[in-house]
Amino acid sequence: MYSIEIKASGGSYPIYIKNGLLGEIGSEVKKIYKGRKVAIVTDSNVNKFYGEKAISSLKSEGFETFKIVVKAGEESKSFETLLQVYDKLLDFKINRGDIIIALGGGVVGDMTGFAAATFLRGIDFIQIPTTLLAQVDSSVGGKVAVDLPRGKNLVGCFYNPKAVFIDPFLLKTLSDKFVCDGMGEVIKYGAIKDKGLFYKLMEYENSEAILKDIDKIIYTCCSIKAGIVERDERETGERMLLNFGHTIGHAIEQFFNFKEYSHGEAVSMGMYAITKIGEELGMTKIGTSSTIKDILIKYNLPWTLPEIKTEAIIETISHDKKNIGDFMNFILIESIGNSFIGKIEEAKIVDYLQKKS
Ligand code: GLY
Repeated sequence: MYSIEIKASGGSYPIYIKNGLLGEIGSEVKKIYKGRKVAIVTDSNVNKFYGEKAISSLKSEGFETFKIVVKAGEESKSFETLLQVYDKLLDFKINRGDIIIALGGGVVGDMTGFAAATFLRGIDFIQIPTTLLAQVDSSVGGKVAVDLPRGKNLVGCFYNPKAVFIDPFLLKTLSDKFVCDGMGEVIKYGAIKDKGLFYKLMEYENSEAILKDIDKIIYTCCSIKAGIVERDERETGERMLLNFGHTIGHAIEQFFNFKEYSHGEAVSMGMYAITKIGEELGMTKIGTSSTIKDILIKYNLPWTLPEIKTEAIIETISHDKKNIGDFMNFILIESIGNSFIGKIEEAKIVDYLQKKS
């Protein structure tokens, strides 16, 4: 079993990574939680595959379990679903001494984490991420949130889990599209911080070879993220590097109402675009965008921008909290593995988007 301890302001918490860990979840939870009641929040897809497995393991250790199943999909990261979850927690008489488990991808993790942070002013929670994206990113670092009709993650807070249990075997039931989606974030870690990881990803011959190594890959990504969030828990500096490709990526997701492209696909296009812009402005070593393009093609991820209205994208980007005057803060890479926060004039972004659309 791989383990990483994250030092956080409210106390440290562990991340455990082990193939087959879900089957042992009861005994693992018993080591860190002395109460009896456990509320599990999951979605309709994950429930079909793993709901019973989690519950039977918890029951075998004597826990009293309560399951809350929300609809699969981004719509569940809403206040409507949150109210339903609070309601069920009340029905089950969950109180401050009990624990909530988020069993699912990013939507379930973020929404359940926010429910845990706010219900009765805060209840402990555990993350069991079931998608690659959630295993390498959203379950780690304590960002929890729900969406508003006007945008994603607009209401949330930092609330660290008691522990994160990652079972890479759970990825076996993910479709190729969702594995690629998560690979977008894995590639991001290599691009911003770890040249060795990036070039290793270039070498894998096929998806079987990647899956064989996936526990190691997840461990590498979580270790990088752990280091970053330990140094900058509240995203005032270094943590922003994790947003490489995300500013343009979010704008693309939003432009298509989150229907056309997955998060990893949108971030992939964003990583290529900002690297190309960085090269044109002399901020990025020439040839880096072509290396990014090669790896995205290898992992079936898109790199060219789709047909978009430049004004709409700029409007979304300029609402982004990272803007200062006519300049916008972007995460750039100087070369593979070396990232920095750079200021780019809005006009330069407009030029690039107009050339492409
Ligand atoms: N997903 C980016 C972060 O956790 O900061």
